Amino acid sequence: MEKKTVRDIDVKGKKVLVRCDFNVPIKDGEIADDTRIRAALPTIRYLLESGAKVVLCSHLGRPKGEVNEKYSMKPVAERLSEELDAKVKCAEDVTGPSAKDMANELKEGEAGLLENVRFDPREEKNEESLAIELADLIGNEGIYVNDAFGTAHRAHCSNVGVTKYVDTAVVGYLMQKEIDFLGNAVNNPVRPFVAILGGSKVSSKISVINNLLDKVDTLIIG
Ligand code: 3PG
Repeated sequence: MEKKTVRDIDVKGKKVLVRCDFNVPIKDGEIADDTRIRAALPTIRYLLESGAKVVLCSHLGRPKGEVNEKYSMKPVAERLSEELDAKVKCAEDVTGPSAKDMANELKEGEAGLLENVRFDPREEKNEESLAIELADLIGNEGIYVNDAFGTAHRAHCSNVGVTKYVDTAVVGYLMQKEIDFLGNAVNNPVRPFVAILGGSKVSSKISVINNLLDKVDTLIIG
């Protein structure tokens, strides 16, 4: 399935809101596995090198709509700064004064990160008011990029609601890569087709399992 991607648009000088999945495991305040951060870097680097003003956002854990330092995005901003070799500021809020200032102060080729979108109780309810506030952060000419493949099964403000309020919405490299891979594997498989499914949140995978049952020759659940 071909989607419009970051490659298909001109981002120079534009504010770009990028929804990533930075839901990384944190142990004693430290990132225990940064795979998801590294997976997002190709899109972020491309946007920075193309002169965009990049506003990053993500959820981390399940803080249930309340501010909880344990789930702050600050360690993620630090890791991003190391990876990109440039300061990535972390806002103190999601769409409040700190986030607005951060988005407005970004220069071309700079990135900043919003605080955990799930600190706002409207995020998981996909409430319109938060979707509008997120879109407002990037203004009229702003561009929205969804690169949060790991969150694609959720219908929340930052990955679904916000798209109604932006003129241009595209996918990032990670999302396109996963769509290409899954599309080929599921619609045009080499047989015998064996699917191996893992992960800790089995309840949210029941629908995936049901969907795969007709298509696979063998399903292994770990
Ligand atoms: C994940 O880790 O599965 C995704 O980031 C989604 O997180 P969630 O299950 O808390 O919505």
